[in-house]
Amino acid sequence: MSNLKDHKSGYFITFEGIDYSGKSVQTNLFCQYLMEKKIDYISLRDPGATRISEQIRKILLDNSHTEMSDWTELLLYEAARAQMVEQSILPALAENKLIVCDRFFDSTTAYQGYGRKLDLNIVHNANQIGSCGYTPDLTFLIDLEPKTALQRRTRINADADRLESEGLEFQNRIRNGYLQIAAHEKRVHIVNGNQAVENIHKEIIDIFSATYQGFVD
Ligand code: TMP
Repeated sequence: MSNLKDHKSGYFITFEGIDYSGKSVQTNLFCQYLMEKKIDYISLRDPGATRISEQIRKILLDNSHTEMSDWTELLLYEAARAQMVEQSILPALAENKLIVCDRFFDSTTAYQGYGRKLDLNIVHNANQIGSCGYTPDLTFLIDLEPKTALQRRTRINADADRLESEGLEFQNRIRNGYLQIAAHEKRVHIVNGNQAVENIHKEIIDIFSATYQGFVD
């Protein structure tokens, strides 16, 4: 499998976590930090980031699509991702940029593999296609108990999309899936999401600084 590091250009960072783990807040804070440090980056979200992928995202998250099969769901996530890799990630790599992506294929392993209980080998192979063989260099897993995440959603009274509507058991399986991934992948760093936003951010910056320095040296 090809890795971005092999191209000696670009650096690919992903943020992962269950719904309402605080992952998107941390992605945004991290991008602010990069801007302040004048590090050239692009920020993407998966599914999304391109015109076609954003259309696919709408289909995926639409609450009225109750009849969607798990295999269709898997393939749509991969289709959205393949478009983003071709259209956004490869050009950014060519320009030697740092890429920050809110979710990537670990989400598919966690949600469709562990959450939907699809065969993990098939999900792995599908991930290879959707990512065009690219693997993140560094992944932050914002880890939070699903119960706590649900309390957050209730507190802000947010509407649930199709995936979020699946309930606590589903989120428990996803969290467990993420922890399994982290146990096997050195690039994945678990960050405790149950602490103050600034503390989580600081932990992320510390890990990034140590890892990224090693990469550019
Ligand atoms: P977001 O709200 O964090 O942008 O993610 C959209 C939803 O899609 C979220 O519930 C997680 C889910 N998802 C999957 O089920 N599989 C995937 O491969 C990805 C990228 C997201």
